[in-house]
Amino acid sequence: MARPKIGLVGAGQIGGNLALLAAQKELGDVILFDIPQAEGMAKGKALDMQQLSTVERFDSRLSGTSNYDDLAGADVIIITAGIPRKPGMSREDLLGTNLKIMTDVATNLKRVCPDAFMINIANPLDAMVYALKQITGGTKQKIVGMSGILDTARFKSFISMELGVSMKDVTGFVLGGHGDDMVPITRLTTVGGVPVTELIPPARLEEIVTRTRKGGAELVGLYKTGSAYFAPAAAAVEMAEAYLRDQKRVLPCCVWLEGEFGINDLYFGAPVVVGADGIEKVVTFELTDDEKAAVAKSEASVRKTVAETKL
Ligand code: NAI
Ligand code: 2OP
Repeated sequence: MARPKIGLVGAGQIGGNLALLAAQKELGDVILFDIPQAEGMAKGKALDMQQLSTVERFDSRLSGTSNYDDLAGADVIIITAGIPRKPGMSREDLLGTNLKIMTDVATNLKRVCPDAFMINIANPLDAMVYALKQITGGTKQKIVGMSGILDTARFKSFISMELGVSMKDVTGFVLGGHGDDMVPITRLTTVGGVPVTELIPPARLEEIVTRTRKGGAELVGLYKTGSAYFAPAAAAVEMAEAYLRDQKRVLPCCVWLEGEFGINDLYFGAPVVVGADGIEKVVTFELTDDEKAAVAKSEASVRKTVAETKL
């Protein structure tokens, strides 16, 4: 049986890390795509990692291209094509530039690999996933965004750092849009099964929630020339792996909601089951009044940006 084909649209900072992680996990053969001006970067990263494969001992094939035809029949596509934030910019400031790029990308993907499981990473995340769905005409099972795993990773790492405990024992998740109104659900966050609310005083926990919400900006402030790339790549590869290996993982992803959590017809972050059929199910639960209010605020922010796409 042929190996799965994984197309990475955008061979920049996140694209390079996606390639490395996907290849190291032997998820399939990896094709790095970028625009003609950056084709050398795509080909160079692929060749460099192919040589690394003999040291790290993995069997994936890597290649670089600027020709969409090379992505024909891809099983998984991960999109990072677009510009990242600079200090002082919000994710929403990227809409004008990145929507034009997404229109080009989605039009080409519709032509060469309409049935792929497509994971978008480009910002503003929730609106870009919506644009991808509108332009490709793909299904809600196959068109998805990566944000919740990254936001949750930030939340969990801050808790593990705060308590000096293994990150393996911290569970929890972040709901909502990938913006400053995202909703870490502290009530359901546990450390070794113990509610985090029993372990960290409310005021300190609120500071951790705020740091999580501003987690992307913290890294933009440190890097100065771009945004985070290691953790975002790992998060998207976790989604791709769950799909390709039918793992039925329960992961927070940006998905099309039709009534779940009281939200209709919007791409929004929620816990879902990811397996061979893509987004197989949204995992729902009852929100408290405070959580409902926080989710409503995040929903309003996402709807505003989505409306600006005029799609
Ligand atoms: P980068 O600038 O390193 O890479 C972007 C790549 O896209 C470049 O290589 C560029 O040549 C390419 N590109 C530009 N126009 C293109 C087109 N029409 N077709 C194909 N490729 C094209 O940026 P980086 O750091 O990899 O970030 C990519 C995106 O991911 C940004 O929009 C950033 O805001 C977003 N991001 C999203 C996160 C999330 O949680 N969803 C987390 C971190 C970043
Ligand atoms: C992040 O959260 C900028 O969305 C990007 O790191």
